[in-house]
Amino acid sequence: MADVRDEPLVLGIETSCDETGVGVVRGTTLLADAVASSVDEHARFGGVVPEVASRAHLEAMVPTIQRALKEAGVAASDLDGIAVTAGPGLAGALLVGVSAAKAYAYALGKPLYGVNHLASHICVDQLEHGALPEPTMALLVSGGHSSLLLSTDITSDVRPLGATIDDAAGEAFDKIARVLHLGFPGGPVIDRYAREGDPGAIAFPRGLTGPRDAPYDFSFSGLKTAVARWIEAKRAAGEEVPVRDVAASFQEAVVDVLTQKAVRACREEGVDHLMIGGGVAANSRLRALAQERCEKYGIRLRVPRPKLCTDNGAMVAALGAEMVARGRAASDWELPADSSLPVTEPHVPGARKDTAEAGGTAEAEGGGAHGHGHPHGHGHPHGHSHDHDHVHELAKDNLYP
Ligand code: KG4
Ligand code: ZN
Repeated sequence: MADVRDEPLVLGIETSCDETGVGVVRGTTLLADAVASSVDEHARFGGVVPEVASRAHLEAMVPTIQRALKEAGVAASDLDGIAVTAGPGLAGALLVGVSAAKAYAYALGKPLYGVNHLASHICVDQLEHGALPEPTMALLVSGGHSSLLLSTDITSDVRPLGATIDDAAGEAFDKIARVLHLGFPGGPVIDRYAREGDPGAIAFPRGLTGPRDAPYDFSFSGLKTAVARWIEAKRAAGEEVPVRDVAASFQEAVVDVLTQKAVRACREEGVDHLMIGGGVAANSRLRALAQERCEKYGIRLRVPRPKLCTDNGAMVAALGAEMVARGRAASDWELPADSSLPVTEPHVPGARKDTAEAGGTAEAEGGGAHGHGHPHGHGHPHGHSHDHDHVHELAKDNLYP
């Protein structure tokens, strides 16, 4: 067996939303997971304010990197690579992480790996339960996404079977928490209240579960409206809103649909594992119901511990280490922060270019535009991207005052 010291030592940087996450992993072993959150600064606005998040990332970046390296007990010079979330996420927030990763990679002479936030939410489970089976069926549920994904290789092939046609699951939790005046973010607080409520108290609708509905797509907007109307009606009648029962019944409607569709996908695709990732995977009822339903059909459930479900840097480092282990090309210095990076692109080699194999424009969307495995001349930036040049300067000024 190979010495674990041979496994790639990678630092991962995550800044797609309000968490400045820096993780260090060796292969599939978690060494450090440092997170600085600006959530308290957003709470009074009831949602993440992009400019506030970007500013907080700038302030937290260097101290969080230092904390992660110290926690891992490694020197920056020992690293085999630096991975960073290239998207999707808030543009300004992503830019802080991408710029910091470039600055560190350049200064240390290490390869840079731009990775997809969504694929990272799946890959993080390698730190908890070892190598992902291939193929992996993943239910990805976060504040911005809800999808069923099938992946044969988390560094190169992620195929969506279905996704939400309106709100993401986490978004629904956040909105209902707001209607109930429970604060932001909504998921954890609804989870807590629901524990003391009756999930069968109110029959809320289960979106897209009819026989003619797309089997793997989700819809939470009808549910959100139904819950909001129910609460309004109570208030209008001058009655007290049973917050715990509403929370439990709403949560049950969400997790019932999520687990039903995920288990169905596993059975129909012949996959005997189900991975659940993203912030909503921290939900205690989702974890319990998924366990129950997976057991019934002999499906092995893999869900990381709650701290690894919500945004963190270890997940980025985990995917980066997998990129190194599989010999994926490092990203070039043109690596952009792409706020709408498609889930089908786990690896971001560099700027979108007019390449022969893409055969399209520089704006070509979705698959094909980025080949894998071809050298990107790391350390020798080629081409030119006016869009992002100013950002490097801005970030460096702020990182090294
Ligand atoms: O993955 P994540 O940390 O950030 C995004 O990439 O969006 O997910 C954040 C979302 C928020 O909507 C939050 O309310 C939800 O995950 N969340 C939860 C729980 N913890 C976080 N939802 C339900 N139950 C939880 N325990
Ligand atoms: Zn996330």
